[in-house]
Amino acid sequence: MNENCFDTPATLKNSVHDIRKDFPILNTQVNGKNLVYFDNGASSQKPQAVIDSISNYYSTMHANIHRGVHTLSQRATQAYEDARVAVQTYFNAAHSEEIIITRGTTEAINLVAHSFVKKGDEVLISGMEHHSNIVPWQLAEVNLKVVKVKDNGELDMDDFKSKLSANTKLVAITHVSNTLGTINPVEEIIALAHQLGVKVLLDGAQAVPHIKVDVQKLDCDFYAFSAHKMYGPTGIGALYGKKDLLNAMPPYQGGGDMIKQVTFEKTTYNDLPHKFEAGTPAISEGIAFGAAISYLNGIDWTWAAQHEHELLAYATEEIKKIEGVKIIGEAVHKAGVLSFVIEGVHHYDLGTLLDQMGIAIRTGHHCTEPLMQRFGITGTARASFAIYNTKEEVQIFIDALKRAIKMLK
Ligand code: ALA
Repeated sequence: MNENCFDTPATLKNSVHDIRKDFPILNTQVNGKNLVYFDNGASSQKPQAVIDSISNYYSTMHANIHRGVHTLSQRATQAYEDARVAVQTYFNAAHSEEIIITRGTTEAINLVAHSFVKKGDEVLISGMEHHSNIVPWQLAEVNLKVVKVKDNGELDMDDFKSKLSANTKLVAITHVSNTLGTINPVEEIIALAHQLGVKVLLDGAQAVPHIKVDVQKLDCDFYAFSAHKMYGPTGIGALYGKKDLLNAMPPYQGGGDMIKQVTFEKTTYNDLPHKFEAGTPAISEGIAFGAAISYLNGIDWTWAAQHEHELLAYATEEIKKIEGVKIIGEAVHKAGVLSFVIEGVHHYDLGTLLDQMGIAIRTGHHCTEPLMQRFGITGTARASFAIYNTKEEVQIFIDALKRAIKMLK
């Protein structure tokens, strides 16, 4: 690796105080108040190392990659491919060519919907899927079956078992629900599917900020994720796929880089991973994705999981004390996501008032309209936590929530 390598630091960070210093935006004032950023499920903030990586790339090595013999192109290509290896190592994929760099989770799922299934195939999803794990299958005109969600926000595994069969071509299910926070029993899902020879795609967009994923240990066939929810840049992510499956799949898009030879009569395609990476990619974002991985390699994950768990537990306990608040999603296993509705208060009004108090939450249907229909609501307010959030911020949020409810009722 060159000077842009994505090393694991010698000591792991396990103090929220230290971690906050790495994120310059956390010092921002919003509407005259210190920012409390609880919209991490939509996109997390970026550490200085990721911001510097983008600036460093454009200051020292920008050129197109995989194309030039000149020094800058070679430097940029090396840094981009180092980033791919950093992602591979972080997710413990067996081969770097199993990491297909995409624009994010959405494109990763669209790729599988385009290249792995065909019209009429049976695909099993769940009732808690994000639109990005529903619509690509509809575009592919597959036969979509939907596993029910229980009242507490857990997947109905009896329904899953009854709908899974040897006719299923693919199970495509979210690892962690963006709206409910539910951590699905993906190990069990994969084992049951594999017993019948059925392949499994996991939408990992909301899992990767909270869970250290090992794709070989999980034994999933595909895993889709985005960099921007794991402290990296927007517009970049990846599809992990088992090599034999990816090799057997046709390309997703045509263009530069994905070819070996082109004539007007016939084109032969490049090897993995380039076969699925047509066109000039988001180079600086790809390299900065590596920097985000490097940053995560420096975090003590046992501490991080415990810290986020404590934030969620505290917020849940406090919010339950407020009259008229109903939590949507009370699964036993949850990541740092707290969705709720308040009797007589519209979530947009709440979100706007909290913003006046410097607090960023997400409101609406969270791109899960069928799930909203399942719960008979139009939307929720959602606080989602990251490693840099604190218990004090939760307290500020709870106090602000009480004030906002008084003003709105
Ligand atoms: N899917 C993202 C969210 O849940 C944008 O907010």
